[in-house]
Amino acid sequence: METLDWKSLPFGYIKTDYNVRCYYRDGKWGELEISSSEIINLHMAATSLHYGQEAFEGLKAFMGRDGQVRVFRWKDNAARMKTSAQGILMAEVPEELFHDAMVKTIKMNLRFVPPFGSGASLYIRPLLIGSGAEVGVKAAREYLFMIFVTPVGPYFKEGFKPSRMIITREYDRAAPLGTGRIKVGGNYAASLKAMDLAHREGYSSALFLDAREKKYIDEAGPANFFGIKNSTYITPDSVSILPSITNKSLQRIALDMGMKVEVRPVPVEELATFEEVGACGTAAVISPVKAIVDDESGKTYQFGSNGEPGPWSKKLYERLIAIQTGELPDPYGWVEIIK
Ligand SMILES: Cc1ncc(COP(=O)(O)O)c(C=O)c1O
Repeated sequence: METLDWKSLPFGYIKTDYNVRCYYRDGKWGELEISSSEIINLHMAATSLHYGQEAFEGLKAFMGRDGQVRVFRWKDNAARMKTSAQGILMAEVPEELFHDAMVKTIKMNLRFVPPFGSGASLYIRPLLIGSGAEVGVKAAREYLFMIFVTPVGPYFKEGFKPSRMIITREYDRAAPLGTGRIKVGGNYAASLKAMDLAHREGYSSALFLDAREKKYIDEAGPANFFGIKNSTYITPDSVSILPSITNKSLQRIALDMGMKVEVRPVPVEELATFEEVGACGTAAVISPVKAIVDDESGKTYQFGSNGEPGPWSKKLYERLIAIQTGELPDPYGWVEIIK
């Protein structure tokens, strides 16, 4: 076991021992290659560098109390990566290849899986890029698929603490018929300025609105949005947000806890009616939100009391973490134990 200070790991990159790579050439995927280098050799005219042919994923593995490593919903990440590939004309990574690469990478870096109870986990980052050279704007003929892992700390250093967000109207993350629904780098580049502005003003994230009308909530930086009222979990239906696997999981758990679930457009004014609000994603599971500022209307929407996370958010968060770490049984078939 690696002797890192597990309890104070950041959500950042730490070098591990190995990564795996696979090249798509002449219309087919080659053999998985194991590498101990952090560097990739890339043609300077690769389409990923010039035309944004790049997609990635993010998922986590957890060490259980029983010493077994559990990966959460990897099939959903593999499926989403296929959708991303289709969206920007890249070679698709077959599910078996994704699985093989993932299991190999985890097993070769087992000493970096944070111990049970540390709150930390092993973040798995699959990456698919156009590696073939083109100068005209077109899809590459060659691709590189790789996976690296890195141990990451609990997202919230001071625990499960609600934060403040700000609605952004100056920037759009994704256009209605653009690439918001897939996990490609361009969406993140488009979000950087708004996120930076929000951070500099002391907010945890920018809250993006629908690009067409600026009437509905889209998502909160790299996380989906949800609001809760009257025992109902409400989350936006939008053509320009990433279908979050955490969000899908929370919806299922919410139903099974007796809540109602609504997936529909969420107008900004509805913020005034929510009892609890949160952002959800792999990194934090749930980031509770205590206030949302709207500079245009001058309104600040407040949620919860005493700056504490709401009761439903807390229950959802605890239930999902317990399933991921093997503390509760997994009735959904979400977890795979790495053998
Ligand atoms: C833009 C965006 N929305 C939402 C999410 C949350 O998705 P997931 O729950 O699958 O991590 C992410 C992170 O992957 C993201 O990048």
